[in-house]
Amino acid sequence: MAVQSQTPKTAAKLGYKASFQNALQNILTYKWRAGMLAWMLHRITGIGMMLYLTIHVIGLRALYDPVLFDALMSSYRNPLFKIGEISLLGAVAYHSINGFRVVMVDFLGWSPKQKRMFYASLALAVIIVGLGAFPILAPYFLN
Ligand code: HEM
Repeated sequence: MAVQSQTPKTAAKLGYKASFQNALQNILTYKWRAGMLAWMLHRITGIGMMLYLTIHVIGLRALYDPVLFDALMSSYRNPLFKIGEISLLGAVAYHSINGFRVVMVDFLGWSPKQKRMFYASLALAVIIVGLGAFPILAPYFLN
């Protein structure tokens, strides 16, 4: 049974039982719309950047140890790191552009245009990722 916008108390009154199966059913029957996607991507990219910053700052300890620093630098050449760099670029591009969209909607009342603005933000982020990914990946294909 799909139950939305209910507190645990009202859900209990209506006979809704919190279970993994019900949660899964709610997710599967949820109507995915642009606004939901925009919000979800914004949260995932925001938390992703916080995670990256934490790991990055912890990694800076290597600056005090030349051996550790060289090992860290060579690990950056690993293709997996290249995927990470492109993902980070995508997260920064999407979050910042969509963040400005949210600010416009909140402060300038651009809500009637927010769906179009979301697709434009997404397209701009994809273009930025494409432009940024080229110099990152080019050495693998051009040599
Ligand atoms: C130009 C840069 C940025 C802009 C314009 C921006 C804008 C925003 C806005 C408007 C929100 C609130 C969204 C909402 O209430 O629906 C938000 C949330 C958030 N931002 Fe940013 N942000 C930027 C950079 C960053 C950076 C660099 C980080 C992390 C290192 C970050 C992490 C987060 C997190 C974790 C949230 C909470 C997400 C959520 O609750 O769904 N943001 N940002």
